[in-house]
Amino acid sequence: MRTNQKCLAVIVVLLVGLVLAYGAMDSALNRSKKELTSPIATAQNAIHIPGSTIEINQSFSTIDPASQWVVVSKQFPLANPAYRPADLHKVSVASRLDKPDDELSLRQKVEPSLTAMFAAANKQGYAIMMASGFRSYQQQQTYFDSYTAAYGREKAETFSAHPGQSEHQTGLALDIAYTDMNNCYLEICFGQTPAGIWLAAHAHDYGFILRYPANKTAVTQYQYEPWHFRYVGKPLAKALYESGFTLDEVKPYLEKH
Ligand code: DAL
Ligand code: ZN
Repeated sequence: MRTNQKCLAVIVVLLVGLVLAYGAMDSALNRSKKELTSPIATAQNAIHIPGSTIEINQSFSTIDPASQWVVVSKQFPLANPAYRPADLHKVSVASRLDKPDDELSLRQKVEPSLTAMFAAANKQGYAIMMASGFRSYQQQQTYFDSYTAAYGREKAETFSAHPGQSEHQTGLALDIAYTDMNNCYLEICFGQTPAGIWLAAHAHDYGFILRYPANKTAVTQYQYEPWHFRYVGKPLAKALYESGFTLDEVKPYLEKH
């Protein structure tokens, strides 16, 4: 080979080497770019709230009454007073017998979590029941009117929602009590009973929240109700438990997502 040919061969080899090296670098760069971007993709599946993170695959409306994140309160009444969930069904757990079927019903989607929670409570030795589940607008009106007659309107408003403002009407909320009805039945002292303590500490494992905590009466505008639980699904229930926030307080975070 002549010297010129040798030089050319060396140049060609060098060029091929450069091209190969560039290709390898490019794919390594792309790989690390992907690694850098993947946590951001994960972050889209999480809502950060002070003190916790809501890990979610799916987000839900806070306005649609059929959504498990719906907020129904004094400030946010149901838009449709006649709302009635489409998948109401009579619960299979222990419940009061002296109530209409409607009130012994909840949304079908709540049933697996409800039965799991009751089974766990029963395993601990707590004989509990659902004392009240779904309540129609008319049923809530009846309750509110009777409490108003008994205690006066101002007092009644601290523990009973006006019709159209009760989350019982969503079929996602329920009142829990001991089956014997002699142990702090729908009373504040239920929170100090073994079942009340256990429910407050474990309901979130099943997707439920204690909706009206003792230290949040100014936010919820209801007295402490250790018997009233609301289904929101596990990720949100866990985040609310960890952060100590109420559903009302995280509403803006859920909406920004
Ligand atoms: N006790 C709750 C606030 C209700 O009546 O819906
Ligand atoms: Zn209730």
